[in-house]
Amino acid sequence: MRIGVFDSGLGGVNVLSCLRRKYPNNDYIYFGDTKNLPYGDKSKDELLKLANDAIKFLLTKNVDIIIIACGTVSSTCYEKLKNEYSIPIYDIITPTIEYLNEIKDEKIGVIGTNRTIESNVFLVPNKKVLQKATPSFVPIIENNLIKEKEQEIINELEEFKDYDILVLGCTHYPSLKDIINKMNIKTIDMGEVLINKLDINNEGKGTCELYFSLITVNLITNINNILGNNYYIYTK
Ligand code: DGL
Repeated sequence: MRIGVFDSGLGGVNVLSCLRRKYPNNDYIYFGDTKNLPYGDKSKDELLKLANDAIKFLLTKNVDIIIIACGTVSSTCYEKLKNEYSIPIYDIITPTIEYLNEIKDEKIGVIGTNRTIESNVFLVPNKKVLQKATPSFVPIIENNLIKEKEQEIINELEEFKDYDILVLGCTHYPSLKDIINKMNIKTIDMGEVLINKLDINNEGKGTCELYFSLITVNLITNINNILGNNYYIYTK
């Protein structure tokens, strides 16, 4: 089947990499809206417009399903988007909420963009949830500055040290897993949770086309780090 995936930029590529690992035979069409990055500070109306544009673009590529690989769009627009189109649309947050309700851990940390944290979607009942917006992380990841900014990242996350788990509520954040794990904080990657819960066919030619509204050298380096070089990239 043909699977459309989108995000503001690199974050959804982490999700795409999870999907390809579990369903390597499907054909993937990815859209990253790097020209309009970051999404995390945009208004709900702006996000809805950008998400509808992304979905309409993916529909021109004849996708069978679409995965919103963006925490910000999922937390603010999914209710509006999910029944708007004739094909199934999945968001990235719902599987993680389900998972949080299933596990025994009591103290849950959540980091995400400003819009995602404000939406309070991760406030599951009967758990102690500490949420924090960490908007500086997206530009650090997109601009390939993770090594240089390691101490800044550690300082931002200090308060989660005695939490059972930390939800990476923005799909960009799995790129910080090595640093967070060095702090002995257990993480939840929404892409991993999604593939564990998703049950779809695995039939196609295994192709992968990536479209970005702006392509930079950093972007290509970062994509190669996540996906290897088994893809085609285009400007949209
Ligand atoms: N990766 C997206 C998210 O999961 C968007 C980050 C951004 O562009 O601010 O929220």
